[in-house]
Amino acid sequence: MTLQTNNDTLITIFGGSGFLGRHLVRALCKRHYRIRAAVRRPDLAGHLQPLGRVGQIHAVQANVRHSRSVEAAVRDADVVINLVGILFDRGRQQFDSVHAFGAEQVALAAAAHGARMVHVSAIGADENSPSLYARSKAQGEKAVLAAMPSATVFRPSIMFGPEDDFFNRFASMARFLPALPLVGGGETRFQPVFVGDVAEAIARAVDGNAKAGAIYELGGPEVRTFKQLMEYVLATIERKRILLPLPFPLAKLQAQILQYLPKPPLTPDQVELLKRDNVVSAAAIHQARTLEALGVAPTAIEVIVPTYLWRFRKSGQFRTSRVA
Ligand SMILES: NC(=O)c1ccc[n+]([C@@H]2O[C@H](COP(=O)([O-])OP(=O)(O)OC[C@H]3O[C@@H](n4cnc5c(N)ncnc54)[C@H](OP(=O)(O)O)[C@@H]3O)[C@@H](O)[C@H]2O)c1
Repeated sequence: MTLQTNNDTLITIFGGSGFLGRHLVRALCKRHYRIRAAVRRPDLAGHLQPLGRVGQIHAVQANVRHSRSVEAAVRDADVVINLVGILFDRGRQQFDSVHAFGAEQVALAAAAHGARMVHVSAIGADENSPSLYARSKAQGEKAVLAAMPSATVFRPSIMFGPEDDFFNRFASMARFLPALPLVGGGETRFQPVFVGDVAEAIARAVDGNAKAGAIYELGGPEVRTFKQLMEYVLATIERKRILLPLPFPLAKLQAQILQYLPKPPLTPDQVELLKRDNVVSAAAIHQARTLEALGVAPTAIEVIVPTYLWRFRKSGQFRTSRVA
């Protein structure tokens, strides 16, 4: 009998070209796994190549809304990982079709080919949520666990890292806006988690060190309100801006208009999401379904965020007002 090594293990990653995708590809390449990145535009996935050895990463075309392309991408894979997610719906990219139907197609294909599966959802996934994002994420989890009861599901809180869409977005807004909005007064609590830690947790699940059929909730070492996070961003980029409380109804009104922008900064659905805290639940901690339970020590934002937010300072990396 020959023993299967990581070199012989083929992992298909849907959404492998995204923010979490590239960190995960790197973590798995370091472990010598073979990677098939299933992406809508393989021609735009060239940035993955330097993350592994020559020939270790191969990009193929797949769209989770099209089951035949999913089938083809899963063929011969030992492990299938679904990272596909959207923040707003547009055209055929609807929350239902991507988060629920798409996730189900991936799980059905993985089950049919006898592959193991890891699925990434989000903290706040809830079938009874007023937010379509949260509802579709819950439906996706349910469909995945129905098709593949041994799958492991990960729900991260907001992820941070050099290419994130949270700290970068607000730091960028602070460059040209006199004030930053605090939706609902900025009281919503978050537990930002380093994208590299989430990638490590998924890699440990691929190694076989996570519970099958469990839903893990991944948060960083600290819980902070949205307002505290905005204060942190402004301190890091050394800019003074007004923090303007925006009651939920007013934010929703503004989002009704902003939602039509090509990349909307706020949608009515996101306002609904902001009404609930985005933190690891007591049940997840109690049942050891956390980063720490996987042996990953969560990284603080102070360790990572200044290493990429410096570019939003007036003086860039050259001189800070703190150095005098
Ligand atoms: N970022 C966060 O703070 C955060 C927090 C909680 C949960 N999550 C979840 O974590 C996962 C990864 O997030 P991320 O920040 O890495 O997102 P991302 O950078 O937007 O990546 C999402 C990936 O999904 C792909 N995709 C979108 N629609 C697709 C479709 N129909 N078929 C195939 N691929 C499709 C995108 O590829 P294209 O280039 O083709 O669009 C992209 O590679 C998502 O499920 C997200 O909901 C993220």
